[in-house]
Amino acid sequence: MDRSPSTPHRTPDPDPAAPHTSTATPDFGFGRPFDRSGTGSSKWARASAPGMIAMGLADMDLPGPPAVAEALARRARHRAYGYTVCDPAGRELVTRWYRTRHGVAIDPDWVLLLPFGPRTAVRLLLEAVRPEAPVAFPAPEWGGFAQVCRAAGLPYRELPLDLAPALYVDPDPGPGPDLAPGHGYRLPSGLLPRPTSVVLLSSPHNPSGRVWPAAGIRALAEEAAEAGALLVSDEVHGDLTHPGHTHPVAVTTVDERLRPRTVTLNSVGKTFNTSGLPSSFALVPDPALRARLVDTMAGFGFWEGGLVEQAVQHAALSEGGPWLDALLAHLTAARTRLTGLLGPAVRSAPQASYLLWLDAAALGLPPAAARRALLDRCGLEASDGADFGPGGHGALRLNYALPQPLLDTVLERLARL
Ligand SMILES: Cc1ncc(COP(=O)(O)O)c(C=O)c1O
Repeated sequence: MDRSPSTPHRTPDPDPAAPHTSTATPDFGFGRPFDRSGTGSSKWARASAPGMIAMGLADMDLPGPPAVAEALARRARHRAYGYTVCDPAGRELVTRWYRTRHGVAIDPDWVLLLPFGPRTAVRLLLEAVRPEAPVAFPAPEWGGFAQVCRAAGLPYRELPLDLAPALYVDPDPGPGPDLAPGHGYRLPSGLLPRPTSVVLLSSPHNPSGRVWPAAGIRALAEEAAEAGALLVSDEVHGDLTHPGHTHPVAVTTVDERLRPRTVTLNSVGKTFNTSGLPSSFALVPDPALRARLVDTMAGFGFWEGGLVEQAVQHAALSEGGPWLDALLAHLTAARTRLTGLLGPAVRSAPQASYLLWLDAAALGLPPAAARRALLDRCGLEASDGADFGPGGHGALRLNYALPQPLLDTVLERLARL
C-alpha cells in the first residue's frame, strides 16, 4: 500500500479495496446535480435538443473517486511526461483487488497491464491468436465484438441468447427483490460451430446487466474447448455487480484444466468512470499466450504500463473501494425504482452495472422506431437495440447511472408513457 499514512481515510478497513463495512456511507455527491457540459462528453454530445437527457452511451454522470482526481493532479504537477515504466505495484494491486472484491486468487504473473481500453484489448487478443476458424459470441452483445471482427476481416457467428420463460429456475439466483430471479437471458448451449477459434463473452452481460451463473460459464468453457476455442471473457462490468449477486471471474471459475484456454479482460474504465483515460488489464494464465500478446503489442508500439493510465488505475484499485460501495448502493436503489416502474418491459433483470434492457412494444413504443419515439415523447435519449445485434430489434438500452435529481426527472417522464 503506497498511500501516505497522513492521507485522510474514511474507513477503518485495513485494505482500502475491500468492500466497505462501516454503516456510515460517505457522501460522494451522487445525490446532487452533476453538470458535464463543457467537458466534451460523447454521451451528451448526442443530446441534440435542450432539455433532452442523454441515457445512451455507457459511462456515468456521477462524480468519480476523489482519489483518482487527486492522483492525476499530483502527477500532472511534475512536468516530466516522458517514457514511463510499468507500475511496479500494478500486478499485485490487481491480485489484491480480486482477492478483496471477488474472493478469488489470481496469480500476479497472469496479469498484463494494458495502456489501451477493452475494445482494443479484444482486437489485440484476436490479432495474437490469428484465428482461422470463426470467432463466436452470444448476442445481443454490446456491439463491439461484431464491430471488431468486421474491422479485422474475421469470420464470426452470433449465437442467439435464450430469453428464459418466467418459470425457468436460475441455478444461481440472487436475492434481487424486484424481478423474479429466473427472469432473463440464459447462455446458449450446443450452438458453437466446429471448429471455433475464439469465444467472446460479455460477462456480466452488456446490454442487459445479467450476471451469468458460474455453472453456465463452466459449461461454455467446456464447449469452447471441445470446439478448439479460446474463451475470452470480457468482464468490464464485473466490478459493478450489485450486492446480493456474485460475479464469476472466468479464469478462476472454469475447470482448472481449461484455465490455459481462458482469458479474463477487465479495466477500471467502467467501474470508476475513467474510460476517457483508456486502460485495461488481462488475466492470462497461459504463459505462451501472454508472451504472444506482449510481442503483438510491441509490434504496434505498445508496452505494458502508460503514464496516465497507471496513475489512474493505481489510485482506483488502491483507494477506490469505499467510493465503489457507495456507487453500488446508489445504482441498486435506482435499479429498483426503474424496474418497479417499468416491470414487464424489462427484458432481463439487471444484476450488475447501470444498464436497463427494455422491450419497446411493452412500453407502448413502436418497435421499429422506438428510440425516436422515446426522444419525442419523453426527451430521453436511449441506445437503439438494433445496434446490439440479433435479438436487439425492438429493444432499447437505458443507462441509469445518473445523479438523484436527474433520475427523479427521468422517472417522472417515464411514468407518462
Ligand atoms: C462489455 C464491454 N466491453 C468493452 C467495451 C469497450 O470499452 P472501451 O470503448 O472503453 O474500450 C464496452 C464499452 O461499452 C463494454 O460495455
